[in-house]
Amino acid sequence: MGSGRCRWLLVVLGVLVVLVVLVPAARGDCGPLPELPGAEPPEDSKDQQSFPIGTKITYRCVLGFAKVPLKSDTIQCLENALWSVLPEFCDRSCLSPPRVSFAKVSAEDETKNFYAVGVTVSYVCNPGYKNSTDELPTSTCLENLTWSEVPELCERETCGPPKVPEHGTLVTTDYLFGSKADVICDDGYELTPGPPSIRCYIHDDRVAWTPLPTCHRIQGVSPLPSTSTVGATAVTDAPKPLEEKTSEYRYILPLIIIPCIIGIVVIAIWTIKKCGIKQKGTYKPNPTNAGDEEQGPSCQERKTGP
Ligand SMILES: *[C@@H]1O[C@H](CO)[C@@H](O)[C@H](O)[C@H]1NC(C)=O
Ligand SMILES: *[C@@H]1O[C@H](CO)[C@@H](O)[C@H](O)[C@H]1NC(C)=O
Repeated sequence: MGSGRCRWLLVVLGVLVVLVVLVPAARGDCGPLPELPGAEPPEDSKDQQSFPIGTKITYRCVLGFAKVPLKSDTIQCLENALWSVLPEFCDRSCLSPPRVSFAKVSAEDETKNFYAVGVTVSYVCNPGYKNSTDELPTSTCLENLTWSEVPELCERETCGPPKVPEHGTLVTTDYLFGSKADVICDDGYELTPGPPSIRCYIHDDRVAWTPLPTCHRIQGVSPLPSTSTVGATAVTDAPKPLEEKTSEYRYILPLIIIPCIIGIVVIAIWTIKKCGIKQKGTYKPNPTNAGDEEQGPSCQERKTGP
């Protein structure tokens, strides 16, 4: 009987010792993370039940909310095993202001990332555009967290009428920033190598036409007759004096180039097949390069000929 009571006492004592040891340890942890308005904790700590003293957790704002500048978004498990209390740091905010082609958000407003309802951002006209009125475009963060439409108060600048090339004409729709004008050479003239058109673009902080290509006389050719009849005769009349042939070389060229290309393709296919059988799976064919190296110079030579 006495030894039974003693054993019982020992069990009680044991439980007490365990409690004494465990309770302070339990008291040394913070409980689950508090809910904060407009904010959520990181996914990996959301469901955690206890956190050691000193733990810092940074919240993020939920959709439609953004962090208010200069307010802290990090709570800490304090010495007294309680989470620190933060003033509200997430508030309703629009996303970044809308992008438009004719203007960009002013540098001052661009760097913000908190746009409260009612906030207005200003825009400045993009290069190539200028303000059409005294006002600059603005946009306001509306109650439903969308931005008001940006009024198109910047208009494209004009390059003015471009110079007309000698021995050619310009095909153009307007003279505004971004426009393109094609240069067409008169019969018997051809464009210098380079782009066959000009564009109204930014040049030294203002808009200007890109350099005008020139039309120069095709060598050894009289401006007449019209090119289409020349092409027709070129195909049928093979033996002709060299001087006449040069005017027609652009019609003969395809006759040379096409067999060249077919030749390259045939060689390429043959190479792929052969190499493919020899080392299956490892060979990466690059037939165009190989073909160009072999055939290129001879084609090139005739093109730039007399
Ligand atoms: C464009 O803005 C400038 C400066 O803000 C102003 O001086 C100018 O008059 C404006 N242009 C037009 C066409 O209103
Ligand atoms: C937001 O509100 C503005 C004006 O109040 C309205 O024109 C617009 O359609 C609304 N947008 C959405 C997505 O509800």
